[in-house]
Amino acid sequence: MRTDRTFTMLKPDSVEKGHIGAILEKINAAGFKIVAMKLTQMTVDDAKEFYAIHKERPFFGELVEYMTRGPIVAAILEKDNAVEDFRTLIGATNPEEAAEGTIRKLYAASIGENAVHGSDSDENAAIEGAFHFAGRDTF
Ligand code: RTP
Ligand code: MG
Repeated sequence: MRTDRTFTMLKPDSVEKGHIGAILEKINAAGFKIVAMKLTQMTVDDAKEFYAIHKERPFFGELVEYMTRGPIVAAILEKDNAVEDFRTLIGATNPEEAAEGTIRKLYAASIGENAVHGSDSDENAAIEGAFHFAGRDTF
């Protein structure tokens, strides 16, 4: 399993607030190379499948509503140690607990609406990247 790629989404709140450019700037400055990218909107079925691991959690309904309410930017990013380094760059799930300078500290409104997604393992990075991108659209 390659350890040099991760998958991200700039979530609907980031797109609504006009934060796409600022967040991509942080991602580039941290040394990640964009190898796939698109503006897209997940259907309810897409979001239920993507976040299936959380289906028993009390926030699942809210999460699906949030992630489907508008377009997202989906991307595959490349860098040594990509998964772990990207999780460090985005910060804790709850922006109140996120370190200074992290993307969630800067741009997330709450634990529920937290600006960005980052894969939590190499295996999930590969699954999530393939969920959103065909091979020919990944460089
Ligand atoms: P993500 O998968 O989006 O990168 O976020 P994460 O790993 O930091 O957090 P995870 O536990 O996987 O939760 C997925 C997303 O569900 C929403 N959430 N809401 N209201 C709540 O208590 C709550 N907890 C989680 C967030 O949008 C979170 O990113
Ligand atoms: Mg997660």
